[in-house]
Amino acid sequence: MSRLVVISNRVAVPSKDASANQGGLAVALLSALRERGGIWFGWSGETTEHFTGEIHRAEGDGVTTATIDLEEQDIDEYYNGFANRTLWPLFHYRIDLTEFERDFEGGYKRVNARFADTVRPLIGDDDLVWVHDYHLIPLGARLRERGVTNRLGFFLHTPWPPSRLLVSLPSHKRLVEALFAYDVIGFHTEDWLDSFHRYVVDMMGGTFDEDGCVVVGSRRVRAIVAPIGIDTAEFEAAAVSPEARFTMERMQMSSTGRSLMVGVDRLDYSKGLRERFLGYERFLHNHPDRRGLVYLLQVAPPSREKVNTYQEIRADLDALSGRINGEYADMDWVPIRYVNQGYPRPQLAGIYRAARVALVTPLRDGMNLVAKEYVAAQDPQDPGVLILSSFAGAAAQMTDAVLVNPYSAEELADAIDQALSMPRDERRRRWQALIAGVRREDVFWWCDLFLGELAAVKVPVTG
Ligand code: G6P
Repeated sequence: MSRLVVISNRVAVPSKDASANQGGLAVALLSALRERGGIWFGWSGETTEHFTGEIHRAEGDGVTTATIDLEEQDIDEYYNGFANRTLWPLFHYRIDLTEFERDFEGGYKRVNARFADTVRPLIGDDDLVWVHDYHLIPLGARLRERGVTNRLGFFLHTPWPPSRLLVSLPSHKRLVEALFAYDVIGFHTEDWLDSFHRYVVDMMGGTFDEDGCVVVGSRRVRAIVAPIGIDTAEFEAAAVSPEARFTMERMQMSSTGRSLMVGVDRLDYSKGLRERFLGYERFLHNHPDRRGLVYLLQVAPPSREKVNTYQEIRADLDALSGRINGEYADMDWVPIRYVNQGYPRPQLAGIYRAARVALVTPLRDGMNLVAKEYVAAQDPQDPGVLILSSFAGAAAQMTDAVLVNPYSAEELADAIDQALSMPRDERRRRWQALIAGVRREDVFWWCDLFLGELAAVKVPVTG
């Protein structure tokens, strides 16, 4: 079996693995690499005054990480700039929040070239190279320029936006052309794949060959759907660990007789936290009899704090949670416990298991692994109810959740009411269908599916 080289901007540090603020992607990649072995290359998360390309190697859990420091200007222009002020909002359909700055593009180009220069010597002849996410779209092309002829895969963990949104990016053509340096490209859902294909056909004159690959001029690429999963067995075990039990008891003691609803998200405008709070407020307004009998624990570790839109959403949520609590709280009850920190995974599993309802209601999300973790953590005899946004990639697989339009406060309020009143038989029926999928299509299945396609590529593209 060929060795695997994974490249992503964010690399999970095994000791920090516990914390929720790393995002599901890093945790999933860590599980996949632990099982298969290989090298994981990316940014160290640190800055340096002058870029040297020095590689920090670390070993742990069968995974070798190799990371580099970046300059302050790189982080401003590439990470906080093009990746998180331009591509992230644009790919999540938030053109109103998208900033277009040439300097950002310069930084994006420079850092992708820096990644290519430093990772190049680590790539052996037979390695499978797998690049992840919007930070590194041009990396494949930069590696080809440096003589890499290996099979190269790329996975996008965000949505792929409809063409009419994507064309607002001045360099949209260059960005998409760069994807043709890869052999296989993966998306989480048919929707994102269709949008990609449609762009290539409409804007680049692409056609399909007999193998279903999309062809533009002399280049062809196979684009596939491969929905990412979690390490289900590990998470199910975490949910019955002593630490999870202790957390569950702590939650139950602090709220005797009340139903817990939980939300766990990086503090990001794409997660629909504002709309979720408003939906919950509507529920409290519509159901005076339920006040005092339910509460929402919203765990929201801060994220990308240098980016103004993230500072704004944080200030909005501070104000909104304060307003709702001020309006509805009583001397012995607070409707929202709003917490800006992450929890170690066993504790998180305990929180999920204690929760009667999970609210996973992003406005737009490539996948969303919290939905899968919540399901994996439930007690099979008395499972809770997952309320899931139909605009999360996860909704394509998890059709037995209570699916909602997260923009509608009324729908959210009704879904909360439905979930809290749902009889045990129905909860069990829905949960059994959900857990079967979460077990079957776990992170290892995802990894095998994508790498199987990549390994099957006969003649790697070298152009
Ligand atoms: C999303 C992205 C990942 C990213 C994660 C955490 O899941 O798709 O690429 O790593 O968010 O964000 P951060 O900016 O902290 O890496």
